[in-house]
Amino acid sequence: MFQPSPWRADFPAITALQRQRQTYLDSAATTQKPQALLDALSHYYSHGAANVHRAQHLPGALATQAFETSRDKVATWLNAVDSRQIIFTHGATSALNLLAYGLEHGFEAGDEIAVSALEHHANLLPWQQLAQRRNLRLVVLPLDEHGRIDLEHALQLIGPRTRLVALSQLSNVLGTWQPLPALLAHARAQGALSVVDGAQGVVHGRHDVQLLGCDFYVFSSHKLYGPDGVGALYGRTEALARLRHWQFGGEMVQLADYHESSFRPAPLGFEAGTPPIASVIGLGATLDYLASLDPAAVAAHETSLHQHLVRGLADREGVRILGTPQSALASFVIDGVHNADIAHLLTEQGIAVRAGHHCAMPLLKGLGLEGAIRVSLGLYNDSDDLQRFFDALDQGLELLR
Ligand SMILES: Cc1ncc(COP(=O)(O)O)c(C=O)c1O
Repeated sequence: MFQPSPWRADFPAITALQRQRQTYLDSAATTQKPQALLDALSHYYSHGAANVHRAQHLPGALATQAFETSRDKVATWLNAVDSRQIIFTHGATSALNLLAYGLEHGFEAGDEIAVSALEHHANLLPWQQLAQRRNLRLVVLPLDEHGRIDLEHALQLIGPRTRLVALSQLSNVLGTWQPLPALLAHARAQGALSVVDGAQGVVHGRHDVQLLGCDFYVFSSHKLYGPDGVGALYGRTEALARLRHWQFGGEMVQLADYHESSFRPAPLGFEAGTPPIASVIGLGATLDYLASLDPAAVAAHETSLHQHLVRGLADREGVRILGTPQSALASFVIDGVHNADIAHLLTEQGIAVRAGHHCAMPLLKGLGLEGAIRVSLGLYNDSDDLQRFFDALDQGLELLR
């Protein structure tokens, strides 16, 4: 039975892609954009660009107001207590690097940082490099057979030497939600700081950072239907106070002299230089658009399409799904067929899916794989998109076998 997306028409690029005979199933990499965002960008650029937080003139005041309103919207989206807990960054990667450098001074040789075995490189390499700089021990929390962090094992590995845990909320390879509430509560009881990589999780459902109980939460706007070049770092007020400034320049300074300076607290103290103003304003407009949708309808649509995807893959002979995907995406390999070959055949048939290691090389290596194909869904996908994918997959398999 055909399952339409009630929001497909809100995303003009989907129609444009269709005209190019492209079926977009790579939303976990980046999403198509709603008209509301295009309108906000066009409005900002066609009504007068201006820098923020410095000019006293009217365009500057309007840009600053729009920029700060976006900060309020991000705070509301995450249910942060205060919009001063939201630092704009250039994305999840830059937020995680900010944390790894900003918290570095608090670590001593022999301290431990815990990450899971499924982290994206963005939430692995900053901590790995910090561990190398400071002579720390990086502890890797193992997974169970479904592709979720093995809770029992992880609770034993997070102990009094653990100073920080950095965990993904929703795996970008396995589509599994991680058991964060228990892990974060345990980390807190051990006196460790917690960092949640919400790059994928933030896109599906609404998440409350207070309920989650994390110290820091990061995400990228471009995966949440917003513009690229911008992301957000949420921090609990006490946790933010532990950050040292890490990038220096305009806007972040309180007083500067030739030989000494003092710096602003969060958020502006961590937003050195001109920020991506249009993108921040566009993110605010995107959040307004997303907030206008019926969350139950979105969840029902996403769940139903995801089930359709997983069932369709499971029904096909020789297809091996990685882990037990719960939301948003599924990755798979095919017995006896190289993933690059199948990816090539899908590409030729206009199916835009991702193949490779998905920026999680250690995870793929642990699974004994060089790569996998990932199909990921967005609000705008409908069951015809999946049908085109399955038809192309069947045709490709026939050719390859
Ligand atoms: C789980 C996860 N974390 C972090 C990132 C990094 O996001 P960005 O490249 O936008 O900084 C990604 C992007 O694929 C991701 O999927």
